[in-house]
Amino acid sequence: MAMREILKFGDDVLRKKCRPVTKFDDRLGELLDDLTETLLASDGVGLAAPQVGILRRVCVVNIRDKRGTIELINPEIVEESGNQVGNEGCLSAPNQWCEVERPFRVTVKALDRHGNEFTIKGSELCARAFCHEIDHLDGVLFTDRVKKTLPQQGGKP
Ligand code: CO
Repeated sequence: MAMREILKFGDDVLRKKCRPVTKFDDRLGELLDDLTETLLASDGVGLAAPQVGILRRVCVVNIRDKRGTIELINPEIVEESGNQVGNEGCLSAPNQWCEVERPFRVTVKALDRHGNEFTIKGSELCARAFCHEIDHLDGVLFTDRVKKTLPQQGGKP
């Protein structure tokens, strides 16, 4: 495992649409391990492959609950309900926090690192993280969805 450098807002790579994963090999496993290591070391709750310069539909979410790190490959939101408005940030935009509206609850369909399909539900922070990371795979940044910019303060990327 290795830490990877996180690209910052303004880098064109963050605006690209990522391609689906088709090969479930050791390289994919290594990318997932590196994403998790980088995420945890950076104290974030989610990290997407394009943030480390890899234009593939891969992301990890870890909201420090019993589920640990959730690895999502080729994820899709298949169901969403309710809404929540809250403070959101991104590891690619240190010290920037904005109020963003997201669904309160989502169901995501994805593949695991071996290519097996699964569905997972998340609400509150977990739903927010799923939506934020899946947006990254389409080159969408949280600032595109801002309701209003807040002064610098706490919150989780
Ligand atoms: Co982000």
